[in-house]
Parts: sequence; C-alpha cells; structure tokens
Amino acid sequence: MTVQIAPSILSANFAALGDAIAAVERGGADLIHVDVMDGHFVPNITIGIPVVRSLKRIASVPLDVHLMITDPDRYIEAFAEAGASMISVHVEVLPHLHRTVHAIKALGAKAGVVLNPATPVGALEQIAGDVDFVLVMSVNPGFGGQTFIPRSDLKVMEVRAALDRAGNTVARIEIDGGIDIETAPRVVAAGARILVAGSAIFHSSDPERATRDLKAAAAGALPAVPRLARDAPGRPRGAN
Ligand code: DX5
Ligand code: ZN
Repeated sequence: MTVQIAPSILSANFAALGDAIAAVERGGADLIHVDVMDGHFVPNITIGIPVVRSLKRIASVPLDVHLMITDPDRYIEAFAEAGASMISVHVEVLPHLHRTVHAIKALGAKAGVVLNPATPVGALEQIAGDVDFVLVMSVNPGFGGQTFIPRSDLKVMEVRAALDRAGNTVARIEIDGGIDIETAPRVVAAGARILVAGSAIFHSSDPERATRDLKAAAAGALPAVPRLARDAPGRPRGAN
C-alpha cells in the first residue's frame, strides 16, 4: 500500500484556492483535504457545500471531505452531490454510526470515521469491518498549525490492529494534525497511509515542493518491499 498525501486547504489562501490546488497537484498531491467546521463541534467555522462544488470543478484529484460538524447526517448527501469522493465523520457525534457509514457508501463516496485524540480505539470495534478508512486525529480538531500529539503513532498501530482483526486489511489509516517531514516517517512506520498536512505545505514558501518533499519523506518510511522470488539467495544465476 502506497502513502497518499492530502494537503489540507485550511492553511491555504482562501482567496486563491485554485492556485493552491494547482500547486500541490504539481507536487504530487493524491487528494485534497477539505475541513468543514460548524462552530459547534469545533470552535471554528470554515467552508461548506458551495466551496466543495467549486473545488470539484478545478481539482484533478479526489476531494477528501472531513466533517467536523455536530449533525453530519443532515449534510452528507449534499456533500456527496457537490463532489466529495471521501467523506469522514466523527464517532463522537454519531449514535447511529453504522447507518451513517452505509449512507455515505450508498451515495458512492468512500466512508471514513474519525477519532479525536481522547477517543479510544475501542469505539471502532463494531464498525471496523464496514469503513473504507479511519482518520486518526493527532491534534484536537479546529485549527491548523497545532503540535502533533506524541502518542498518536501508537494509536495508529492500535487502529491497524483493530481493522485487521475485523478482516478489513484494505482500509487505509489517515492521520491529521501536525504532520510534517519530521513526524511523517514515524506515522507511516506505524501504519498511516494517508497523510493530511496543512501548515507544513501551505505555510511554506513553495507548496509544490513541500508536497513533493513530504511525499518523499513518507515513502522512505514504508516497509521494504519483499524481495522477488527470483532474487532469493541460492537460486542459480540465469534460472528462469
Ligand atoms: C484540524 C484539521 C486539519 C488541519 C491540519 O482540525 O482537521 O486538517 O488543517 O493542519 P496542520 O497540518 O497544520 O496541523
Ligand atoms: Zn482535517
């Protein structure tokens, strides 16, 4: 499984989102991460459905929409229709998480569930077999530019184990908050395969290059690919 880079436009210049997206796409961005905040679930207000619709027209890569809102059930259909390819919802606000996850899938989007830093991995237990991805928050959601919470890489390992126990080996783990070229290798080594990065990319002087550098740092931490059988020691040279 490769590592995907998902620049978070939260740290970009909102007056020039098209330029921001073009730059990170040139740098190899795999997804565009869109942070939707309602001022209730988190203490900040950002963007909503019309912005996702506009971004969809200009982005070449899929839109990964992270809903930090108290009532996602009311809005998932609108976000999917606006062009969200991936929609993630916080387990902390959803008493009927199973219904919500399957509603996202029925709309044709990939369904992710998000764990806040203080939310235990056990919250995933009954839904781990149903999700397309799990988003581990490595900061408390609400703002860009916060410091990575150190224990988060261990949490990624616990989430990977929970997914594997449920037989869901294809589900990716996404991580969000304080990701840069210092923290990226350790979260990839722990099992993260989608890295969200806002300030590390858009507060740099060259977001294209920052995307490329982050991708290289992440790829360098992937486990080594098993050697091909034909390279195995003891096999006669020239044998097919
Ligand atoms: C925080 C958001 C993040 C944010 C990350 O609530 O979910 O996606 O943009 O920003 P950095 O990478 O600066 O920590
Ligand atoms: Zn986010």
